[in-house]
Amino acid sequence: MFVSELAIDGGRPVLDRSTAYPWPKQRSEWSERVRRQLESGKLSLYDRSGVVEEFEDAWSAAHGTPYSLVTNSGTAALHSAFYGIGVGPGDEVLCPTYTFFATAASLFQLGALPVPADCRPDGSFDTEAAAGLVTERTKAVVVTHMWGLPCDMDAVVAFAERHGLDLVEDCSHAHGATYRGHPVGSFGAAAAWSLQTQKLIAAGEGGVLTTRSREVYDRAQLLGHFNKRAMKEMDPEGPLYPYSVTGLGLKYRAHPLGIAFAVGQIAELPSWIKGKQGFAEEIAELFTRIDGITPLTLSTTERTSAHYALLFEVDPDRVPGGRDWLVAACNAEGLDDIDVPKATSPLHTLHLFQHPISPVTTYDRPCVRTGFPVADRLAARTFKISVPCAPVGYEEEDAQYLAAVRAVAEKIAGQVRAVGGRRSGEAAR
Ligand SMILES: Cc1ncc(COP(=O)(O)O)c(C=O)c1O
Repeated sequence: MFVSELAIDGGRPVLDRSTAYPWPKQRSEWSERVRRQLESGKLSLYDRSGVVEEFEDAWSAAHGTPYSLVTNSGTAALHSAFYGIGVGPGDEVLCPTYTFFATAASLFQLGALPVPADCRPDGSFDTEAAAGLVTERTKAVVVTHMWGLPCDMDAVVAFAERHGLDLVEDCSHAHGATYRGHPVGSFGAAAAWSLQTQKLIAAGEGGVLTTRSREVYDRAQLLGHFNKRAMKEMDPEGPLYPYSVTGLGLKYRAHPLGIAFAVGQIAELPSWIKGKQGFAEEIAELFTRIDGITPLTLSTTERTSAHYALLFEVDPDRVPGGRDWLVAACNAEGLDDIDVPKATSPLHTLHLFQHPISPVTTYDRPCVRTGFPVADRLAARTFKISVPCAPVGYEEEDAQYLAAVRAVAEKIAGQVRAVGGRRSGEAAR
């Protein structure tokens, strides 16, 4: 009789303490930068100066886009991007259903309607699914480079051009990711990143947008960067300049301490992205030892993922108990990093998108207009795990994390093989 040794079945956990990948890392230069900012007394930066200017210049240089705007969240950057490209009441914006809701939620603030489209099997935007959703009201399309893996940007750009749509990229998972060697965030009318704690470039809270268009930049500043910044930066000949002193009622300035923590991280990005590629391959190899588990978001020749996380699909016919059992089994062994991305439930499953309301308009049509078989399948079958990047000084810590992942994956693979087709719990009976 086979007796399961898995912790989920009462066995001894592999790890003696709960393990999750620690992020962000700390670096004395970054803390020093925060301390200097604090001691300077400049805890509000009213115009484009100091550490905000430094961050924006570095971001623009990294993306080949002339204009960058630091905000206090990724949500604010997206809102500013949508206002920047001129989205307003009555407009429809195609968006992925498979994303975090902030990709599209600020559209409700503009009285526009997000229209979700299904995704490809790797979670990226499916232009074929989106094509059937274009109407005469469709103004723009926003895509998310989910879990760091760039969308097929040749297809996305061609789709946007074919339908005359402005393209916005939500790069919140994909700092430093590239498509055919070009950085994500450089393909559309505007792009936005979150700089929230878990993100690859982490300010605690914060965001940034880039654009090549002076007009988009000016409008974006008007939305949340009134008075000194907008007055200095906006084109005085532009039609909206007289509003620069007041803006439009929102304030989206970032906290300088967060930006001071993040600014030094930008130069590290290329080496982190490089480091992540090998780790992602290694983690993928470990989990594919379990029959029925497939990695979905590994880099390809054209698409270099930033590996915000690595996504795996679990075949419930081959892994007894399916995805939920696997996650619970890993968690029971002490590997807390593995989880089901619940906050990232497909948009069509969320009340706001099922029953859209807006502070500025009343909707007479639905957001949700199709079925979403691929996104539903991903939501039911996938789990994610962090991918280390071995930043300088943290090589040992990252190696320990990988060793923990290996120990858990090996144990579970061995047990799943032994259990065969039977479900966990039935094994010992
Ligand atoms: C894909 C995506 N878009 C947008 C956001 C919103 O960013 P923030 O939390 O900084 O507002 C997030 C944050 O998690 C995200 O993951």
